[in-house]
Amino acid sequence: MALISNFFLVALLVLSSSSMLYACDPNTLNTTTGEYPITVEGTTIFDVAAATGRGVCDIARFNMMADVAIPPNIGQVIAIPPQTCTPDNTTCILPRLNPTRNCIFGGPRLYYTVKGDTYERIALYRLNITLESLMPAAAPGEASTDATAPLPVGQFVKVPQCSPSQCVIQPVTFEYGVYKDLAEKYGSTVGQIMMLSPTYNYSEALVLNRTRPSIDVAINCTALSNNLTVLA
Ligand SMILES: *[C@@H]1O[C@H](CO)[C@@H](O)[C@H](O)[C@H]1NC(C)=O
Ligand SMILES: *[C@@H]1O[C@H](CO)[C@@H](O)[C@H](O)[C@H]1NC(C)=O
Ligand SMILES: *[C@@H]1O[C@H](CO)[C@@H](O)[C@H](O)[C@H]1NC(C)=O
Ligand SMILES: *[C@@H]1O[C@H](CO)[C@@H](O)[C@H](O)[C@H]1NC(C)=O
Ligand SMILES: *[C@@H]1O[C@H](CO)[C@@H](O)[C@H](O)[C@H]1NC(C)=O
Ligand SMILES: *[C@@H]1O[C@H](CO)[C@@H](O)[C@H](O)[C@H]1NC(C)=O
Ligand SMILES: *[C@@H]1O[C@H](CO)[C@@H](O)[C@H](O)[C@H]1NC(C)=O
Repeated sequence: MALISNFFLVALLVLSSSSMLYACDPNTLNTTTGEYPITVEGTTIFDVAAATGRGVCDIARFNMMADVAIPPNIGQVIAIPPQTCTPDNTTCILPRLNPTRNCIFGGPRLYYTVKGDTYERIALYRLNITLESLMPAAAPGEASTDATAPLPVGQFVKVPQCSPSQCVIQPVTFEYGVYKDLAEKYGSTVGQIMMLSPTYNYSEALVLNRTRPSIDVAINCTALSNNLTVLA
C-alpha cells in the first residue's frame, strides 16, 4: 500500500518536473535515497526506474551494477539514488559491438552465467568476441545452438583465449559506477570484469551497508605476438 501511494507521488513529481515546457525545479526533486525491494518476478531495473522516477543508469551506478540489463531476483533490494534534473537512461547501456576477434586477451578462461544471459549477450555485448568463437559448434547433423536463448544461470562457459597474450590483474576501488565505466577506464571489457568476480553481488555491499569492496580489473590486456593462436 505504502509503495503504491509512493509510486503515484513520485510519478506526479516526475510529470511536473520533467516536462519539456518547464525548466526542472531542483526544489521539487525527491533527493531522499531509499530502497526498492523486488517482489514481482520479471521486474527489471527499467521498471524500478519508471516506478521511482529515477534514471536507469543513475540506479545502475548507485548500485555498482555489472550490466543494468541483468534482471534482479525476487527478494533483492535495489538502492534508490536521489532524483536529479538530468536522469541518465543511456550512458550505462551496453551497445551491441561489432567484434572482429575470436579470443580474448589475457583471461580468465571461464564465464559464470547470470540471469538473462545468452551467448549473444556474453559475446557481442560483454566480451567483444565473435559469436562463433564463444558458441559450441554444432555436432554434424545437429541444429546449432540458439544464440539468443537464455542460458541456465550459474553455469560456466569456456571463453577462448588468444595465445600469447596477457593482462595485469589488479584490484581497484569501486564506489560508484557500472562495469562499463571500469572497462572504459582500464581498457578491459565488462565480460572480463564479470569473469574475475563471478559471485560479486552489487546490491549487497550497499543495501546491507557494508564497506564497498574493491574489485579486480584486467588492465592493459595485449597480445604478445602478431601470430596468435586460440586456446579453446
Ligand atoms: C523519495 O524517494 C524515496 C526512494 O525511492 C522513497 O522511498 C520516498 O517515498 C520518496 N518520497 C516521496 C515524497 O515520494
Ligand atoms: C528513463 O527510463 C524510464 C524507464 O524505462 C522511463 O520511465 C523514463 O521516462 C525515462 N526517462 C527519460 C528522461 O527518458
Ligand atoms: C544478491 O544478494 C541479495 C541479498 O543478499 C539477494 O537477494 C540477491 O538474490 C543476490 N543476487 C544475485 C544475483 O545473486
Ligand atoms: C572491441 O574490439 C575491437 C577489436 O576487435 C576494438 O577495436 C574495440 O575498441 C573493442 N570495443 C570495446 C568496447 O571493447
Ligand atoms: C549505514 O551507514 C551509514 C553511514 O556509515 C549510517 O549512518 C547508517 O545508520 C547505516 N545504516 C544501517 C541500516 O546500518
Ligand atoms: C597500463 O599501460 C599504461 C600505458 O602504457 C601504463 O602507464 C600503466 O602503468 C599500465 N598499467 C598497469 C597496471 O600496468
Ligand atoms: C604461428 O604460430 C604457429 C604455432 O605456434 C606456427 O606453427 C606458425 O609457423 C607461426 N606462423 C608464423 C607466420 O610465424
